[in-house]
Amino acid sequence: MARRYPDTHVLYRHLTREFPLIVKGEGCWLIDEDGRRYLDGCGGAYVASLGHGVTEVVDAVSAQIRSVAYVSGMSFTNRAAETLADLMAGLALGDLGHFYFLSSGSDAVEAALKLARQYWVERGHPGKSVIVAPEPGYHGNTLLTLSAGARQHYRKYFEPWLLDVPRIPAPYEYRCPCRGADQSCPRCSGAVLEKTLLRIGPEKVAAFIAEPVGGSSTGASVPRPGYWRTIREICDRHQVLWISDEVLVGAGRTGTWSALEPYGAVPDIQVMGKGISGGYAPLASVAVPRRIADVLARGSGALLHAQTFSHTPMMCAAGVAAIQYLRDHELVSRCATMGRVLHRELGALRALPHVGDIRGRGLLAGIEFVADKESRAPFPRAARFAERFTSAAQQAGLMVWPNIGHADGTDGDLVMLAPPFIISEEEIGEIVARFRTALNNVNGEQ
Ligand SMILES: Cc1ncc(COP(=O)(O)O)c(C=O)c1O
Repeated sequence: MARRYPDTHVLYRHLTREFPLIVKGEGCWLIDEDGRRYLDGCGGAYVASLGHGVTEVVDAVSAQIRSVAYVSGMSFTNRAAETLADLMAGLALGDLGHFYFLSSGSDAVEAALKLARQYWVERGHPGKSVIVAPEPGYHGNTLLTLSAGARQHYRKYFEPWLLDVPRIPAPYEYRCPCRGADQSCPRCSGAVLEKTLLRIGPEKVAAFIAEPVGGSSTGASVPRPGYWRTIREICDRHQVLWISDEVLVGAGRTGTWSALEPYGAVPDIQVMGKGISGGYAPLASVAVPRRIADVLARGSGALLHAQTFSHTPMMCAAGVAAIQYLRDHELVSRCATMGRVLHRELGALRALPHVGDIRGRGLLAGIEFVADKESRAPFPRAARFAERFTSAAQQAGLMVWPNIGHADGTDGDLVMLAPPFIISEEEIGEIVARFRTALNNVNGEQ
């Protein structure tokens, strides 16, 4: 029996929808109290990368809680935080060797932005405060991260509280006026950032923040091979810190630990979240090199972002166990291999009505729906295509993640897939079959 507001005391994420009650997770599947099975095609919110019910991780977290669940990061360190930082340093890009642990992606992006600002003030550049970010883009739901994000429907009631954040167009070939065909296109190459920095005055800019591969905001758009090296050069030339937000696409999701690995470019600050702990505890991280942390160490002495649950043993133990499990079972390379299978099989959906584009890397895929394939015209928002598809998919026992508004801020419908890295070929076949059923049902309603 599904639950809905106000029949119970829970204030649900949506107040007009029903919520099935999940009682168990097994591998790539979720099971509700009535025994209905859902294929977890997006790992919840891109979180369950190891799959559900991994006893090694459960045992490690419970062992940590039995020994000590919580100590304040104000007074103590703990073995789980030390081990997690060592493991992540071993996997990190370039000089990103020091880690601050928090319990959500929004908290970590907020901390990274504050760190960038604090770094410039402590280096004697108090005029550097502006954040530049791409549109479409999403970086979290606290007020500073909401300011950095460009998702209008999340921002609309809170505009009076948000900062002005100058934008560059995100690398998004399917929606670029050049349609990805122009090799010299400044949007697709990243060169557009330079013009924006010069317009603002680089001496006022603290940081440029962006996702290295698109998450749901651009439906897994993959920038060109030279994109991030161009961004690195521009940021260096103008003394702007580059923050890579890998909350959604990091921790192996695109087939490499960092989504930036294939680009050969290293950011100044990197944020991860979601899949680092596989969902066995809330966990996010901010990675910095010594050249940045030392400025604070020599100055104020601390990142001014104290939170009760930062560096908590229980949360870090989940990260340690999840990363060890990924490593022992070679799941990141499996993600790359099974990602190729997923994208090959999804290719069959291109021929279906209203499938405009399918893109992504590793076990991350975005499927963009359009009213007209030739012109790429989106459906009007009132048609609620993404929402109707998502509920049809749930009816067919497939969980996907919808996104709207990417075409012009209001219109645009896409759904995302990001299954656990343990997914089998047979289960990928199930994703494609259930996707097809859901789309046929939605198209039948038109
Ligand atoms: C790119 C990106 N950054 C930040 C966040 C915020 O993370 P959280 O929802 O854990 O606060 C998200 C969440 O979806 C995200 O996709």
